[in-house]
Amino acid sequence: MKKIVVGITGASGAPYARTLLSFLADRQKTVGDIEVGVCYSQTAPEVWQLECGGDLREQITFPTWGMRDFKAPFASGSAGWHAMVIIPCSMGTCGRIAHGISDTLLTRAADVMIKEKRPLVLVPRETPLSVIHLENLTALARAGATIMPAMPSFYGKPQTIDDLLRSVCARVLDHLGVPQDISHKWGENKS
Ligand SMILES: Cc1cc2nc3c(=O)[nH]c(=O)nc-3n(C[C@H](O)[C@H](O)[C@H](O)COP(=O)(O)O)c2cc1C
Repeated sequence: MKKIVVGITGASGAPYARTLLSFLADRQKTVGDIEVGVCYSQTAPEVWQLECGGDLREQITFPTWGMRDFKAPFASGSAGWHAMVIIPCSMGTCGRIAHGISDTLLTRAADVMIKEKRPLVLVPRETPLSVIHLENLTALARAGATIMPAMPSFYGKPQTIDDLLRSVCARVLDHLGVPQDISHKWGENKS
């Protein structure tokens, strides 16, 4: 059983989180080999409401912890959670994690992944990137995080926004070690 933490921040890109969670929910139902815990930042519900509509807390089917709930299992390395993704990841959250500021459950969980040397995938979204953003992202990459910007690919000839969302989520799942077949892979035949 692979235990995965999904963190959601207040960067634009809530639909990426919704797409990823929907895939993980399907996998849990059909294959049953993953456990998922969700945490989110203070701004995440506001951006979710704007971009996806509705209340993030009502739409997520996985156990979801509040910002200050340090009793969540993945707040400690000893609980053995395997991997974490922060999708989308704001520049504010990147900066806090890069500097070890574990002031919320989300930043604490990321800090735990780094110290335990477990996969931490960050899906930052901002443009343009300032030198401060770039230096924080570099520090995170040096600490072992995978920086996977929300950059859809076009070689699979996407037809819909869902196709674009899936092209990013597919790469995230690859790096979390969750088998997936939701997006075109390079070299795969497609009519
Ligand atoms: C609609 C909306 C879109 C935003 N988009 C981004 C973004 O793409 N990237 C980013 O770094 N911040 C973005 N922000 C700003 C962050 O929400 C803000 O810096 C917040 O303090 C981040 O806090 P958090 O990292 O705890 O979620 C956006 C805010 C709003 C309201």
